[in-house]
Amino acid sequence: MNKYRESLLFYVNGERRIIQSGSMDMAMSLANYLRSEGLTGTKLGCNEGVCSACTIMLSKFDTVENKVEHLAINSCLTPLYALDGKHVTTIEGIGSPTYPHPVQERIALLHGTQCGFCSPGFSMSLYALLRNNPHELPTEAEIEECLAGNLCRCTGYRPILDAAKTLARDNRWNQDGAGCGRVDCCKLKAGQDAAPCETKNQFRRYDASQELIFPPALQCMGHLRLASASSIAPVYRPMSMAGVQDIFSKHHHAALVAGNTAFRLQSYADLVRRPHVYIGDIVELQELHLSDEGHELVIGGCVTLAQLLQKAQTISRLGALRDCLARIGNPHVRNAATVGGHIATIPSSSDLIPVLLILHAAVSLQHAVSGVQRTVSLDRYLHDGVGLADGEIIMHIHIPLNLPSAASGALVFVHSQKQSMRKANDSTIVSCGMRVSIDPVTFRVLDASFVFAGLDRTYFVAQETASLAHGADWSDSGFINSTLLETCAQEAASALADNVDRPKYRVSLAASLLYQFWMASCKEFGIDHGLGPRIPDDYLAYTQPKSMISEQAFAPVEEKAIIGKGEPHLSALKHTTGQAVYIDDMPPVHGELSVGLVLSTRSHARILSIDPSQALGMEGVYPKLFTASDIPGKNVWNLWQDEEILPSKEVHFHGQIVAAVAAKDRETARRAADAVVIEYEDLPAIYSIDQAIEQESFFEEVSEIECGDVEAAFASADYVFEGEARCGAQEHLYMEPQAFLVVPKGEDDEYDVFATSQSPHNCQATVAKTLGIPANRVYCRAKRLGGAFGGKDMPPPLFASVAAVVAQGTRKPSRLVFRRDQDMRITGQRHPFLGKWKVGVMQDGRIIGRRVEVFSNGGHSHDCSVPVMNNCLSSLDGCYYSPSAHFVGRVCKTNIASTTAFRGFGACQGEFIVESMMREVAESLGMDADLLRRINLYKEGELSPSSYHIHDWTVPQMFEEIQQSAEYAKRKVAVDEYNKQSMFRKRGIALVPTKHGITIGSREMLEAAALVHIHLDGSVMVHHHGVEMGQGLHTKIAMIAADALGVPLSSVYIPGSSTEVLANSTPTGASISTDLNGGAVLKACKALASRLQPYREPMPNSDFPAAVRAAFTDQVDLSERAFFNIDMIPEDFANKRGFNYLYYTQGVAIAEVELDTLTGAHTAHRVDILMDVGRSLNKAVDIGQIEGAFMQGVGWCTTEELMLDTSSGALSTNRLGLYRVPTCMDIPRDFRVAILEGVEYKHLNNIHSSRAVGEPPLFLGSSVFFGLREAVKAARASHGTLHMDIPATVETLRMACDDGITTIVDKLEEQGKLAKSTIQRI
Ligand SMILES: Cc1cc2nc3c(=O)[nH]c(=O)nc-3n(C[C@H](O)[C@H](O)[C@H](O)COP(=O)(O)OP(=O)(O)OC[C@H]3O[C@@H](n4cnc5c(N)ncnc54)[C@H](O)[C@@H]3O)c2cc1C
Ligand code: FES
Ligand code: FES
Repeated sequence: MNKYRESLLFYVNGERRIIQSGSMDMAMSLANYLRSEGLTGTKLGCNEGVCSACTIMLSKFDTVENKVEHLAINSCLTPLYALDGKHVTTIEGIGSPTYPHPVQERIALLHGTQCGFCSPGFSMSLYALLRNNPHELPTEAEIEECLAGNLCRCTGYRPILDAAKTLARDNRWNQDGAGCGRVDCCKLKAGQDAAPCETKNQFRRYDASQELIFPPALQCMGHLRLASASSIAPVYRPMSMAGVQDIFSKHHHAALVAGNTAFRLQSYADLVRRPHVYIGDIVELQELHLSDEGHELVIGGCVTLAQLLQKAQTISRLGALRDCLARIGNPHVRNAATVGGHIATIPSSSDLIPVLLILHAAVSLQHAVSGVQRTVSLDRYLHDGVGLADGEIIMHIHIPLNLPSAASGALVFVHSQKQSMRKANDSTIVSCGMRVSIDPVTFRVLDASFVFAGLDRTYFVAQETASLAHGADWSDSGFINSTLLETCAQEAASALADNVDRPKYRVSLAASLLYQFWMASCKEFGIDHGLGPRIPDDYLAYTQPKSMISEQAFAPVEEKAIIGKGEPHLSALKHTTGQAVYIDDMPPVHGELSVGLVLSTRSHARILSIDPSQALGMEGVYPKLFTASDIPGKNVWNLWQDEEILPSKEVHFHGQIVAAVAAKDRETARRAADAVVIEYEDLPAIYSIDQAIEQESFFEEVSEIECGDVEAAFASADYVFEGEARCGAQEHLYMEPQAFLVVPKGEDDEYDVFATSQSPHNCQATVAKTLGIPANRVYCRAKRLGGAFGGKDMPPPLFASVAAVVAQGTRKPSRLVFRRDQDMRITGQRHPFLGKWKVGVMQDGRIIGRRVEVFSNGGHSHDCSVPVMNNCLSSLDGCYYSPSAHFVGRVCKTNIASTTAFRGFGACQGEFIVESMMREVAESLGMDADLLRRINLYKEGELSPSSYHIHDWTVPQMFEEIQQSAEYAKRKVAVDEYNKQSMFRKRGIALVPTKHGITIGSREMLEAAALVHIHLDGSVMVHHHGVEMGQGLHTKIAMIAADALGVPLSSVYIPGSSTEVLANSTPTGASISTDLNGGAVLKACKALASRLQPYREPMPNSDFPAAVRAAFTDQVDLSERAFFNIDMIPEDFANKRGFNYLYYTQGVAIAEVELDTLTGAHTAHRVDILMDVGRSLNKAVDIGQIEGAFMQGVGWCTTEELMLDTSSGALSTNRLGLYRVPTCMDIPRDFRVAILEGVEYKHLNNIHSSRAVGEPPLFLGSSVFFGLREAVKAARASHGTLHMDIPATVETLRMACDDGITTIVDKLEEQGKLAKSTIQRI
């Protein structure tokens, strides 16, 4: 009989924790536990193991290896009970803002953080990597690999990688581990003529011996049994198989848990009903060794994918296994997920099962109670119904190292491949394991096996294809090209799961992967595949793209200057040490309730009834459902007042908030919300622009810009061309989900509202109106946002109001924090656009007239769709002049979440339409696209179609300069040469200019206020209207204040935005917040500085506080409120004139990319950006904005695709695992950013002659798209003008490269043999 301990024992940051049995839910996630304990540096970005914001380091004593192991783990996937005997290190445990760990310090001071929400996760991933290699620093490649699972939406990754690589042993600039990592680091060039580091960084040296040790008390732990709080079943942590037997003999239906990466997906009822048995620490299941004879690799059921990967890297025959494992999930998932758990689950699209099958793996099983053992081949286990029986445990997996066919002297080739929507940290679209053995003399196939994942729900063995291959001549390219590939495609088509997305791409991939396999095997076997040298030797070798290098070029500023310096973000160290507080990090307020949201499951329907009885009967649920009838004030909101806070009669999109519940905790609130039953009567729904055009479903406004006589221009043009361009939606994916806390203050209807809002004023006003109280009773604050990008501008007032209705109804503080899937479903995205263009061109390439009819998908309500459309129309000229133009825009009314503001705000969509048009026109003319664009580039002072002058126009200068610095002409020739030599890899190089107009929608928004206090100790407090969301606004404003007052930057403090301090704020957005708020702060500081001047002048050597005290004694007011406005009407659509921009921020980018035409996989080899940001206020912040916006643009143009199930209107891509923002593996391998210097601006009248930078670089991300377009052109069998839409996903790219395989798949489609999918791009 085993003895069980009845309390959980583990350490957190060196501190012993004991949790008594029954005192809490033992299956709760570690992330939730840590956060409930106030360790809120561990963030929750997705709760599904994809973003790694929740990374902690888990240390455990490895009893097999007899050493301590440190693992970076996603704490959202780790159950509390798995911690027994382990040491958890969180971000708080490694450093603090005053004494940061080297990883925290370097990421912070080298600008690797903007909003900071992802920063603790990055720091912990890097920290764990260093801890695991105490005797040797990692390489740059290892660092990139280690950070591939961490997502960042702000920085574009470059500065994070550069900062992290200062700790790499092969870093060029890291000679003693103490340099700052910059090329011109003064420390490295000491004694030479190096410029001193601007930030004067002297980094702490990394010293592994200074780290927390593993508590010796944890090295010897026994069995554990824990009761969970409430009705949840108990959990066990046995240390041996005997312990498992003991438990199962009492609980036959207990559930095994190993890595918990799949188990947590089981139904809640199942999770709470069955006792959990955590087997991750059982020694017998940890074995990983070669058998005595060395014939097979023996893998314990609880060996993790990471451990197996490490082992496979040492065994040359397991190359296929190694390649497969290296691409499963991300490093943190691989550290937790076990091989046994994988086989037991057979995850959908398993990458591992196909490879294990082709390697002839076998599985040994043992019954938990009887102890009966059996070993079966994986093939039989999966196919013959001999799989896991109830109570059986996967003990070992056996992989033979000599394949049966190899023994006979045959030539054998084994390979695995995976194609996903992005390079790393992604699930499979199609992956495969393939094996062929042939006779070395006749090349006849002796044996073949082709196994795919991603076609049906699990894996698919292409038996017909294998049978056909059997006996065939493997060197017969004709047979392969036609018969084998065709059979494979047919088989793949027949295997497709019902309604699987991307059916055509999946089938093409199956055939393409087989073709690639054949080419690689020919090379291996020494067979001439007949394709000659155009197939490079490394064509199939699994290689990470080479390690990223970068360069940032800008002129240094004077040593004593403040303005222009590359100061790190003011909160940088708070971000990387986890001390920065976001709304969900705020400690619970006494009596607080969690708000649960009841969401519509229909896209357009009448609400017939709502039954909350089941939900309200649950323990811990407040006994009331909050619906439209509980709104005491006005149930209407947004600029156009066309949306209800809670629907009274009808729902308008799938995911709309219908009602709210309140409960003691978040999980209970979620379950209660899910238990509310709503009856609907469906109404007709429209989702797409095309449907809306067909059914004439538009909002009433028609936007128009007109200049000159377009019809006359078309009549006199030498050529008239027409075409269209489309771009899809984009999810903001700010890393911090939307969060709100509303606290009733107990008297006079006062409420504190904490909101993730770019517009605290709008939250205040909407909450007040909804509750039917005056605005002066609502105090809305936003200290910082974990990213926003426009997504926290319009929608938050609605969400804050829902929380406020609950707070008012319950009289309790109410917190509403969106789960990631809710956030993605409820909030709207970037507007999809369709542009239909017509252009008149002269023989010499001059454009003389253009007309563009534009449609956007606005969703169910106005939101800000009309201003977005107006900005699109005003940007439809691009960088090109034409004497006549006519642009018309309509917003389509559909049944999707109301599309909303997003960085770029219509301008990037407009510019995309123009750039597509320019390329298609050039191709139709047979003219070089760069020449056509050069001919038509605006000249200084020319009129835009809105009839405003283009001033301080530097695009032509940058157009030429970047071509020189990037050696564009030479590289274009090299790309052409490469493409002639290479068959399935094609390169493309493209240059893209941008001009982004800066203004904001209406006159009353062109204003801001500031309040500056100077305290008697000389410290300065600055309030202004703007909200810090990672863009460095507060940093720039503090610099403006410090410069104007003549005080050190460290004296200035900005506490955050609050409607109590400054009323009637304008939203932070349109990139213009520094211009407006900086203007107000500068005005206030100048007034204070001149007031203090009489006290500073007579005592120039005295410190600032002395002057302040002298002034105060003299009754001088040390506070100043200032109002700054730009007195103009920013647009004139009434007269068809569009936006009158204050100025244009401009830039040019060149991208060179490489595309695998058979799969669509691609890499940006090099990107050069030259950007005119005027006189930069902070060069580091501006470069950060350029790189971050660029990568967001790359995501918009390539990997990010939103899909809707058109059978229900539900968003299919509603999780981080299904929506692909770029990872650090997607950034250009050579990334060069330069700021244009030395220009005299004649008209620029902005603060310190700077230009706004937040949005303008986003469109430059399209240079990667246009580079890919060139590569596709080089690959296409059928020529003619290429039409390609945004996003150009791997699917789009592969399907555009028409070849023999796409012809086969097209035929299958024509014959109706390809399943249709209702899952479509929005
Ligand atoms: C973010 C993320 C990304 C992923 N990416 C990929 C990917 O790219 N490719 C891919 O192929 N897979 C991927 N996966 C799936 C992953 O490989 C599996 O979830 C994992 O291997 C399951 O192992 P586990 O130890 O976590 O199992 P658990 O979650 O602990 O258990 C899963 C199931 O297996 C049972 N079980 C566990 N161990 C045993 C045993 N020894 N004997 C019998 N039953 C057992 C449990 O009872 C449970 O029912 C991903 C998963 C996540 C969360
Ligand atoms: S929150 Fe854990 S991985 Fe995203
Ligand atoms: S800084 Fe990485 S998500 Fe904002």
